[in-house]
Amino acid sequence: MSDRIGRNLALEIVRVTEAAALTSGRWMGRGDKEAADQAAVDAMRQMLDTIQMDGVVVIGEGEKDEAPMLYVGEKVGCADHPKVDIAVDPIDGTRLLALGMPNSISTVAMAERGALLESPYVMYMEKIVVGAAAADVIDIEAPVAVNLERVAEANDREVRDLVVVMLDRPRHEQFIHEVRAAGARLRLIPDGDVAGAVMAANVGTGIDMLLGIGGAPEAVVSACAVRCLGGGMQCRLWPRNDAEWALVKEHGIDVTRVLRLDDLAGGDDLFFAATGITDGDILRGVHYFRDGATTQSLVMRLRSGTVRKVDAVHRLNKLGQLEGMTFA
Ligand code: FBP
Repeated sequence: MSDRIGRNLALEIVRVTEAAALTSGRWMGRGDKEAADQAAVDAMRQMLDTIQMDGVVVIGEGEKDEAPMLYVGEKVGCADHPKVDIAVDPIDGTRLLALGMPNSISTVAMAERGALLESPYVMYMEKIVVGAAAADVIDIEAPVAVNLERVAEANDREVRDLVVVMLDRPRHEQFIHEVRAAGARLRLIPDGDVAGAVMAANVGTGIDMLLGIGGAPEAVVSACAVRCLGGGMQCRLWPRNDAEWALVKEHGIDVTRVLRLDDLAGGDDLFFAATGITDGDILRGVHYFRDGATTQSLVMRLRSGTVRKVDAVHRLNKLGQLEGMTFA
């Protein structure tokens, strides 16, 4: 393990997710995913560089040639210590934001160098996420009904009391069938399985499990949050087409391997911040007023186990002057 990271970087990266939410929130419901994403990426990039750290983006907007900023391998931060790996998801739920729908969030996670799983060849993973009480009883290799029974028992409830959150996708037809056959309740969401994972790992959200196939980068970001929350999570790579299967074969990747929390996001120093962009289940979105806005964020550090909800009031002109950015 590398040197312990002595300060709570989550309290610093929340400024990054707030900035991304403040700039991209203006695009709510305007039907322009690209413009919203660009606004979030620009703000995030600029804010990351104000943090005293030697950061490398390991999960970002893609390859350098396609992504002018926050590409994998890009260096961010303005010091040579601590050395951290960074996973960014400037907007999880870009379509949600473009359509003005709930639960789009901006997130950043950080870990010591080498601690975050990189999956350059396979873009999707099968995921199961639960809260702390059921963290040790889930098994992604077991049938859905078995997992539901175990989660119900661990929470002293019945299967019919449970709510499973799942991306609403044709590829989930079998999962949907199995959840319904087992008698559990289901919440199908249009997008945003990082927020879904946080709901499943957090107590009191009314969601007991996230199930299904979603983005591999989102799985790693989610794993940081789930570890900080003490929840449980398992994943498996899910090659989506022949091209990915060919890469899997070429690189000798075992797609049957169960990826546990430590495999997805390891080490003892993990930090996670998320800011709501549109109003949602876990976070309120950005609300603007004359020359200002309010944000709500989740800020977590694994080593201390502290989970904070941060309500902030921003004066956009002052903030713009301070950071040299346009927020208005
Ligand atoms: P973006 O906001 O980056 O588009 O991601 C939204 C999302 O719903 C993720 O939360 C999820 O992991 C992934 O897309 C699922 O991918 P797909 O839409 O291809 O099923």
